[in-house]
Amino acid sequence: MTHNAVELIKADHDKVESLYQQYQGATGDSPRQRTLVEKICRELEIHAALEESIFYPAVQAKLGTEGRDLVKEAVKEHKEMKQAISQLQTGSLTGANYDSTFRKMMSGVQHHVREEEGEMLPKAQRQMGPELDRLGQQMQRRKEELMAHQTTAGQSGQGTLAQRKTVAGQDVDGSSTIEHSIDVSVPVRTAYNQWTQFEEFPRFMEGVQQVTQLDDTHLHWQATVGGKDKEWDAMITEQVPDQRIAWTNTTGARNAGVVTFHRLAEDETRIMLQIDYEPEGVIENVGDMVGVVSARIRGDLQRFKDFIESRGTETGAWRGTVERPAK
Ligand SMILES: [Fe+2]
Ligand SMILES: [Fe+2]
Repeated sequence: MTHNAVELIKADHDKVESLYQQYQGATGDSPRQRTLVEKICRELEIHAALEESIFYPAVQAKLGTEGRDLVKEAVKEHKEMKQAISQLQTGSLTGANYDSTFRKMMSGVQHHVREEEGEMLPKAQRQMGPELDRLGQQMQRRKEELMAHQTTAGQSGQGTLAQRKTVAGQDVDGSSTIEHSIDVSVPVRTAYNQWTQFEEFPRFMEGVQQVTQLDDTHLHWQATVGGKDKEWDAMITEQVPDQRIAWTNTTGARNAGVVTFHRLAEDETRIMLQIDYEPEGVIENVGDMVGVVSARIRGDLQRFKDFIESRGTETGAWRGTVERPAK
């Protein structure tokens, strides 16, 4: 499914934020933090390139003087970010400096994202209309090209750290990110409320036998993965009613995700699900594995849609908020 430019940009922002949360959660495990830093830098480089080559020029053209000022400021912030990325990639920084350079860059990125989401994107949404779909398609194509480029650069042994990528959809640390979305014909509140009922997940998630809610933010999962029984604990890292739920596992192979809810109309909601996971054991063909998991997640979303649309109402709700860990 193709998303419009604003949705694509927000999905990228969410992905970077969720990776950064993983980084913060990995304190004391520096190899893992290193890997996450490299991954975040790659994401940001592609994201900035897409904005600068496709989205910003369109904003500038459509939003007049105001657009020009917003873009000028944004490009300046991208430039600072890119300087930090190249410092991180040259390998010249010592441990503590590496860490503080990265954290400083990320606080700049968070500020930049707040400005884009608070100002530029809402304005674009109001004033650019259907053009956003066309731009979204263009950005999606360009993104695939840039990712393919990272693949070839990595295989030929050339290119910077930022260009090292093994196969499409799989990152150097062995983890994969899968994104799917679906539109459901219920109000955003209903879709969100249902999603807070974790213990009901086995009703629509393939292979999930039981989810036990231990408290407001802790879950225990039992599922069959690749024919084997698995159990793991997960933690809700962020929850904002009618907007988003993010989680990460605390035991077992990495498995983190974020689901966001977008109001399309009174009775129409778009659910976007992004899963970041690490396949366990030796997988002979990672491409196949990604395909299998991807199809499964697509199926889960379709079953969630069927479930909630046929009931028309949620089975329960938890309307509390879980805040992101402090930066
Ligand atoms: Fe952005
Ligand atoms: Fe940006």
